[in-house]
Amino acid sequence: MMSKALMCGAGGQLGQELVLTCPEQWQAIPMTRSMLDIADPGQVARALDDTEPAWVINAAAFTAVDAAESEPDSAHRVNAIGPETLALQCRERNIRFLHVSTDFVFDGTQGRPYAVDAEPNPLGAYGRSKLEGENAVMAVGASPVVLRTGWVYSRHGGNFVKTMLRLMAEREQLSVVEDQIGTPTWARGLALACWGLADHGDASGIYHWSDAGACSWYDFAVAIREIALELGLLRQAATLLPIPASQYPTPAQRPAYSVLDKTLTRNLLGQPGDHWASQLRAMLVDLQQYEKHEL
Ligand SMILES: NC(=O)c1ccc[n+]([C@@H]2O[C@H](COP(=O)([O-])OP(=O)(O)OC[C@H]3O[C@@H](n4cnc5c(N)ncnc54)[C@H](OP(=O)(O)O)[C@@H]3O)[C@@H](O)[C@H]2O)c1
Repeated sequence: MMSKALMCGAGGQLGQELVLTCPEQWQAIPMTRSMLDIADPGQVARALDDTEPAWVINAAAFTAVDAAESEPDSAHRVNAIGPETLALQCRERNIRFLHVSTDFVFDGTQGRPYAVDAEPNPLGAYGRSKLEGENAVMAVGASPVVLRTGWVYSRHGGNFVKTMLRLMAEREQLSVVEDQIGTPTWARGLALACWGLADHGDASGIYHWSDAGACSWYDFAVAIREIALELGLLRQAATLLPIPASQYPTPAQRPAYSVLDKTLTRNLLGQPGDHWASQLRAMLVDLQQYEKHEL
């Protein structure tokens, strides 16, 4: 029998990939922001009563890390009040809840991959609002799943990969930060991990998922350039200059090291996940085919 999963934030990077990857045993109920504001209890109640899902997957978030510094109230509303509202209303109706969070709940000083029970200490307003959301969801109870991830990109929306492709087409030379380490995550693989956790009825608590391996933003940019040149997505090889984060000041401070330890999720799903460079290639092929189709 098919189970229904309501997806919040269905217009975002992860939301769109959740729809694209929906397994045949699931019926996807995608809700974009204009259809459902997750911080509005009345809208949430109506959506859940109208659709009666078995699971709610929350891919909605305020993800503008730098803007969150000047708009902390907006970040708090979407990243803390929203998930708490969803968790409460799911609990009332006996609906399972999967909430997505971030590697930016960590301060990046640990120097080795963060386990699910490592102590969070966010450096900025975005990370703080996401940690408040996690804590609120866990406090509501009813066996929620909180899935932390990092450095998400896809062919949809704005992200580092698409920004690099644009800048490398426009400029001969670019500076990219080399002393922040994390793991890029193709939203498609993340979506599959969400479905895997929902399929595994026993999952509950905090999990981590990103692609495998680790790199700096500079390494990531070099890989984007090389694969994009090979695929013909770029015509010229822009020079990439590695710089320290101190030479690229941003409103929000970011963790220097935010690699996630994915052992728990890997064991539960029975697979290690693909390396970030293979996933990047797959995404760029996907982007190329999508753009051809659009022309
Ligand atoms: N992007 C990353 O690098 C990254 C890294 C770590 C963790 N994450 C987490 O991964 C999850 C998915 O991120 P993503 O990259 O897919 O984000 P995204 O592309 O920015 O999508 C978020 C979606 O949420 C929607 N939204 C905003 N406020 C809403 C509200 N009040 N009610 C309902 N929908 C609302 C947005 O709509 P509008 O576009 O109309 O505002 C957007 O469609 C989030 O939990 C995020 O915190 C992301």
